[in-house]
Amino acid sequence: MTSFERLNAYARQKLGQLEATGQRRSLVETAREAGGRAARSGQGVISFCDNDYLSLSHDARVIQAAAEAARLYGAGSGGSRLITGNHPLNAALESRLARLKGTEGALVFGSGFLANLGTIPALVGKGDTIVMDELAHACMHGGAKLSGAELRLFRHNDVADAARQIEGAPGQVLALTETVFSMDGDVAPIAELGALAEATGAWLMTDDAHGLGTVKTDNPAQVQMGTLSKAVGGYGGYVCGPAALIDLLTNRARTFVYTTGLPPAVLAAAVAALDVMEAEPWRGAKASRHAALFCELAGLPAPSSVIVPIILGPEAEALRVSAALLERGYLVTAIRPPTVPAGTARLRVTFAAGHEEADVRAFAGALTDIREKACAVTS
Ligand SMILES: Cc1ncc(COP(=O)(O)O)c(C=O)c1O
Repeated sequence: MTSFERLNAYARQKLGQLEATGQRRSLVETAREAGGRAARSGQGVISFCDNDYLSLSHDARVIQAAAEAARLYGAGSGGSRLITGNHPLNAALESRLARLKGTEGALVFGSGFLANLGTIPALVGKGDTIVMDELAHACMHGGAKLSGAELRLFRHNDVADAARQIEGAPGQVLALTETVFSMDGDVAPIAELGALAEATGAWLMTDDAHGLGTVKTDNPAQVQMGTLSKAVGGYGGYVCGPAALIDLLTNRARTFVYTTGLPPAVLAAAVAALDVMEAEPWRGAKASRHAALFCELAGLPAPSSVIVPIILGPEAEALRVSAALLERGYLVTAIRPPTVPAGTARLRVTFAAGHEEADVRAFAGALTDIREKACAVTS
């Protein structure tokens, strides 16, 4: 066998394993449109699974800002910000973010994933300890692993368990959590974790990827990470915090230093989107109302955010309900392990300002119908 054949055989064997456990994924051509709509392999659908919570990705003002910046400054940034030069739109976006979060400074990264991957190892290393919520996002796990610090997981949202993990932990402790959990939509006890950090000398770092623009929290964390790819409707990540921290990350976060700056159009879109977000708080409120209405109609507990998990258990069941919804024109992709813990495959339903109340009502009706029909067949 040649090396080429051995690689192919390896890939096919791994894919076969994923297929057997219902975990194989594939890309489906989908062109997103305004109002939560999309064309999926040519079929018109309403998406209830994207993270564009304020529907800013299709806002005319945001698109105009991006187009204008591309026209004026070109399509790409040309290199890393420390080498090629720091386009003024970076500073404009960073001061905008710092103002929004009430911090001394902010640093923009290529993505939220890169922000976590670079920031965590810049703060702690071998001999230190990371105490992290067990459901924290894959990129926090990635950053923790890269850092070389000892990793201690605490039970989801359990502050007492976090305190137990901090007790006797070697070196500097960095506590990590999401503010709003991406797959469950629940909110972390940030104030309590902040008090715990203060009492124990730990630093608290939060990932606000799914909170910004939709769930308001007074955040005591010293390190506040987030993304521009969800409610902001564009792309990129950021860390907000004290000026010295920002300076340190500019020097030490490898995913900042050794990578290309964001294109000017992406930066300009984010600045414009943050302006709209602040000027139009109705957007977040509308998405939240949709989530509450949906839960009421579907007989689910009131939501804490615009993310509503419907946990179905086996992968096959999540795939079946997702496919049945798609047949009726609703896009809600099944979320399966390893993205979520084994046995908790689910529909992760999300709501956006661009949805209308009639969309939400019709979607809730379709979902109830599909699930009732399945119960009738199995009983
Ligand atoms: C909690 C959380 N953090 C970070 C990220 C990564 O952000 P980005 O998509 O900007 O890389 C995501 C994206 O899915 C996320 O859900």
